[in-house]
Amino acid sequence: MPDTELLFLQPDHIQTLQQRYERAMAVHGYDSLLISSGAAPMRYGDDQSWHFQGYGPFLHWTGLTGQEHSWLLIRPGQTPLLWLYQPVDFWHANPELPDEPWQQVMEVRFIQQREAPRMERAGKLAVIGDPAMLAHVPGDHNPEPLLADLDETRVHKTPYEIACLARANEIAVRGHQAAREAFLGGGSEFEISLAYQRATRQREAEAPYHSIIGLNEHAGTLHYQYYDTEAPATARSLLIDAGVRFRGYCSDITRTTSAGGEGRFAALIQGLEQLQRRLCEMVAPGVDYVAIHRKTHEGIAALLNAAGVVSGLDDEALVEQGVTRAFFPHGIGHFLGIQVHDVAGKREPAPADAPFLRLTRTLEPGMVVTIEPGLYIIPSLLDSVLDGPLGRHVNRSVLDELRGCGGIRIEDNVVVTADGARNLTREAGG
Ligand code: GLY
Ligand code: MN
Ligand code: MN
Repeated sequence: MPDTELLFLQPDHIQTLQQRYERAMAVHGYDSLLISSGAAPMRYGDDQSWHFQGYGPFLHWTGLTGQEHSWLLIRPGQTPLLWLYQPVDFWHANPELPDEPWQQVMEVRFIQQREAPRMERAGKLAVIGDPAMLAHVPGDHNPEPLLADLDETRVHKTPYEIACLARANEIAVRGHQAAREAFLGGGSEFEISLAYQRATRQREAEAPYHSIIGLNEHAGTLHYQYYDTEAPATARSLLIDAGVRFRGYCSDITRTTSAGGEGRFAALIQGLEQLQRRLCEMVAPGVDYVAIHRKTHEGIAALLNAAGVVSGLDDEALVEQGVTRAFFPHGIGHFLGIQVHDVAGKREPAPADAPFLRLTRTLEPGMVVTIEPGLYIIPSLLDSVLDGPLGRHVNRSVLDELRGCGGIRIEDNVVVTADGARNLTREAGG
């Protein structure tokens, strides 16, 4: 979608939020709602701050990730009033504010002070944001029942949000292609991260989460957080889980690549890719997301049997006895939006057989989810299987061969539509 078309969707998005917020405020009896953008906290005992990204509800309305100490006032029937902190400061620059259509439906004022502006005739006021910012602000701070309903306003994405998420996918896919080339060219984890940043034109601090870039065994640590600056003597596999933010909206994509000569691992990647595509095809209105998670375990069991990693136990037994959980310990995915693990995913707690599942809802049009099956060789999880009564079913020589490749994850971002789904990652060429 061209930039101009995308930008012209934003005023409609803001009108939709106005309606959703007015309903939530009426239910909870509030006349006004003030949202703090937040500010980067200082590192303890230091004069340096953490990188700032912004508070979810503020980003939901504005997409302005760089605006610290700013405030947004919502009142029924009135234009949203946005106070942007733009101090005269010779140490730092203020974020630029290009002239865009959303400014026609919000009143923007610039302020020099960090404190919340004085509000006339606010009536019963709720104030939401990082409590550290709210010390001297009047009103009810972060009332839980209201917050829960405001989270719910983020579940069904507007056309503007879906356009932003699609763009975040297009940019990230370019980064993943560059990362793959850097890996096949012999790059280290650090060099692969540079290739990703260069292709996405995004500083790592601005990404929705710290990129996970693991070569070989490192691919088996789910949120591996370091970058070796030297490439290993033999690079066998790359797992990269990395996204970008576009106007506040996140992509969250994972790809796994094997080096040449890794026949067994390459076949497992291919098998998991086929499973992942089938799971993406399950995404549709009315589908219980937990059922997609459970289907993943069945698919992992079939893969483990087909690849000869286990033998003598049928697929059903592998799931029932918890063997698949040792290879696939996380959930199949989560909501995605202004936060990478977007809010309101669990009206019901995760079931006992899926303790790390972040989304337990029935899918509805407008929801955006990730589908991210994985298959890993994680010694701390597999040791208890190997040492237990089921250990004799595991083919240790196959496991040892795979161990040095760490693991596989394949992750796409999928929108639930009225009659099925749109896979934003594959649409972008990922
Ligand atoms: N990148 C974190 C996740 O996939 O949930
Ligand atoms: Mn991810
Ligand atoms: Mn994810």
